[in-house]
Amino acid sequence: MIANLPDLLTVANPDAYFFPGQLYTDPALLPLEQERIFRRTWLYAGDAAQLAPGQVWVKEVAGLSLLIVRDRDHQLRAFHNVCPHRASPLCTQSGVQSLKHIICPYHAWVYGLDGKLIGAPSHDRFPDTFDTPDFPLVPVAIALWDNFIFVCLSEPPCDLTKFLGDIPTALQGYRQPTTELVIQKHYIVACNWKNYHDNTLCDYHVAIAHRQTLNKVQGPIRHYEHSFGDYVNCLYTPTTPGWRADNAVLEHLSDRNRYGFLTFGMFPNLHLLAFPNGVLAWIQIEPNGVESCRVNLEVFAIPGFSTPTEILLKDFEDFMQEDMDLTEGVQKGYASGVYQSGMANHLEDRIIHQQKLIRQHLLNA
Ligand code: FES
Ligand SMILES: [Fe+2]
Repeated sequence: MIANLPDLLTVANPDAYFFPGQLYTDPALLPLEQERIFRRTWLYAGDAAQLAPGQVWVKEVAGLSLLIVRDRDHQLRAFHNVCPHRASPLCTQSGVQSLKHIICPYHAWVYGLDGKLIGAPSHDRFPDTFDTPDFPLVPVAIALWDNFIFVCLSEPPCDLTKFLGDIPTALQGYRQPTTELVIQKHYIVACNWKNYHDNTLCDYHVAIAHRQTLNKVQGPIRHYEHSFGDYVNCLYTPTTPGWRADNAVLEHLSDRNRYGFLTFGMFPNLHLLAFPNGVLAWIQIEPNGVESCRVNLEVFAIPGFSTPTEILLKDFEDFMQEDMDLTEGVQKGYASGVYQSGMANHLEDRIIHQQKLIRQHLLNA
């Protein structure tokens, strides 16, 4: 715990000033962030279409190992990857595997995909009070929006509808039955997770630092429109004439959405980009040590309609490389110890919005 955390989080005018540098460099903050931020909200966990009945997905979420399971009855469930007998991990291999049962490698307790304990070796040598229904796997809240999986480690979980805000209404009709996950990559970046989140929320730098990449999609700054909800904020920009000339758009979208590019910033570490040609992209930033983060990129598109995958990959990698260079540079600035707390331009209001939420969560023991 940082002794002066309340001082660091308290600025005289939180509507105008950013976090001080120490909040991006102090290793004592990470366990607190896991506990008070990541384990108290909904977190994006992936595409439900990737998990067939009978499959188990071992996934690290907020520093904890989880099993996301699709039962043979198609029901999705999530459990902690911790055996109730003596705490062994149940599945040690990450990724998706097909399993009939979940068998603990330590003493071979056998669980169904519904999390119920089915049996244990040497059953007769337990005390008489041993009863399998007393030892199910520990469940984790799981919910879907548009076939995207979210998990919440807090008990009881918070309200997913409140967490998603306007997104389900705004993006109705973007994900089509033929939409597919076409790119799934991750990048290790030498910066604090909040630094990369700030950068992805920053609408001040796009016209300057992404002139040859992202700025080719977004129209001029004077047409930017921001909106703010409880946990989600949004930048709407009209697409450029050049982009419109190269792309077919989903005709059933509203006029506004057919001509616009939407970027949602979501608490605590998530971004959803929606293009009118049916491309949806998640950018999720996970802490990986205090001065390192893992940036997960998932791009969904409609094959044969949206931009071809090779072009999409190049476009995303080009602007993300620019962002990685920027954020790694900024991280060095934070680590120098000379940076205090800078003043935000209104094009950075989405950063301020998320920093207020981060501040509230960190102060709320
Ligand atoms: S720890 Fe899992 S069966 Fe003993
Ligand atoms: Fe950027």
